[in-house]
Amino acid sequence: VRVSAAERFDFVVVGAGIAGLRAAMTLAKAGSVLVVTKEKMAESNTAYAQGGIAVAMGGAEDVAEHLDDTVMAGDGLVNREAAQVLVEQGPARVEELLAWGTEFDREQGELMRTREGAHSRSRILHAHGDATGWEIARSLLRMVTANSGIEVREFVTTIDLLRADTDGIRGVVLEDAQGETRVVEACAVLLASGGAGQVYSDTTNPAVATGDGIAMAWRAGAALSDMEFYQFHPTAFSQRGAPRFLLSEALRGEGAYLRNAAGERFMPRYHKLAELAPRDVVARAITREGLTGEVYLDMRHVQKDLKGRFPGISAFLERYGFELGRDLIPVRPAAHYLMGGVRTDTHGRTSLPGLYAAGECACTGVHGANRLASNSLLEGLVFGALAAEAMVEECGEPRASKAVVPSSVQEGSDVGDVEAWITHLRALMWEKAGLLRDAARLREAKAELQAMVLPAGETRRCVEARNLHAIAMMIVIAALAREESRGAHFRNDFPQRDDVKFGKHSVLRGSVVGF
Ligand code: SIN
Repeated sequence: VRVSAAERFDFVVVGAGIAGLRAAMTLAKAGSVLVVTKEKMAESNTAYAQGGIAVAMGGAEDVAEHLDDTVMAGDGLVNREAAQVLVEQGPARVEELLAWGTEFDREQGELMRTREGAHSRSRILHAHGDATGWEIARSLLRMVTANSGIEVREFVTTIDLLRADTDGIRGVVLEDAQGETRVVEACAVLLASGGAGQVYSDTTNPAVATGDGIAMAWRAGAALSDMEFYQFHPTAFSQRGAPRFLLSEALRGEGAYLRNAAGERFMPRYHKLAELAPRDVVARAITREGLTGEVYLDMRHVQKDLKGRFPGISAFLERYGFELGRDLIPVRPAAHYLMGGVRTDTHGRTSLPGLYAAGECACTGVHGANRLASNSLLEGLVFGALAAEAMVEECGEPRASKAVVPSSVQEGSDVGDVEAWITHLRALMWEKAGLLRDAARLREAKAELQAMVLPAGETRRCVEARNLHAIAMMIVIAALAREESRGAHFRNDFPQRDDVKFGKHSVLRGSVVGF
């Protein structure tokens, strides 16, 4: 591959969502920071988060309950140490956001709080009704762009990590906005590149969510964890020809019921918390009820100003002729959040020196097998800050080893229509490695993935296609290895949870899974 002469920054951050932006603010105090993002700055999963940010601002009892709720939702697999860090440090990080100008919704000056699935009390802050992520992104971007120590480059695709000739990571290989391949060397690289919802045909995630950071880390030899746990949001809009728009769990928090085609409110049959059961339980219940007809969200009984409370959702629904409080709204699950990712400790350290990860692309184990609603923005905020602290502390002198441009940059062949290739992969994953899994279909998926020829080239779409293929392979390999059902991972052939054999996080290195 032809590359221009290397540039050098102290720190490179891949991704401009909540984790990357929060990290950049700390990193800039210690050195030069380059933040790269594939699209325009505001385009991240963060900006699409509707319901809110879960945070225990109500004192010690609230913090303890937030921990219990997180652990309970995670179905026996939450890393308690990480969850403790999350809930204990959350309030201070949110106070910091407030100081930086994030405007959460208030009533008579007091922060408003709503409730979502598996929370034992109302503790979810929201902004502009249902545009919480957008507001957080807005305020963080304002801080970052005003900081002269941080350079943000838009429309830049990170192709791969730059390895040292001995060990560790010492930068990135990029394709810049002009289509030129560039090497950027750095003392430390933070992956804050978000999730991978685009690996499934049905997803609430935006087009940028192609698992790039996770795939790069995997190619570089980093350990990954829990890739079998993909969370499907129960209620994405379900209408032919319409996007799988997220209908926030906060709708159920404000009283929405779920009804099947016969008009029955079915969730009480599945869980004592009914519509506010953990997300994996609700998603599977909707899938089962959906086998015999449509499933609907029903707010016709809710006596609230729903347009005022959910302006974004209301405006979207109006375009398709629906109104909250007047109509039954058709819903079904869609891929939403990856619990797994690059294995890290609570300070974002991966298994490779010089490489850190935070936010959805990382796996601290904080979510276990099923993330508690609205814990993801808090995760990005808390662990983004902690990863940055570790990077600053551990950067030290530049290592003496030489940078090596990875060979994966050149891999692949001509596959013809890359869009068709990607569509096929996404459909395959939805059909054979989706919500309800079994060994036979997972093996078929694995064989088909192995037989697929990877597209060559350094254009963004070719890079994304290769990354999606890597993510798909990781999910399938890990899902095959976990012969039990737990949280978001449900095996029809192993419907029980098995704590003796599988009460542990999976660890994936190359194509080998261990527990
Ligand atoms: C939602 O608003 O339902 C999504 C929030 C989340 O993913 O936690």
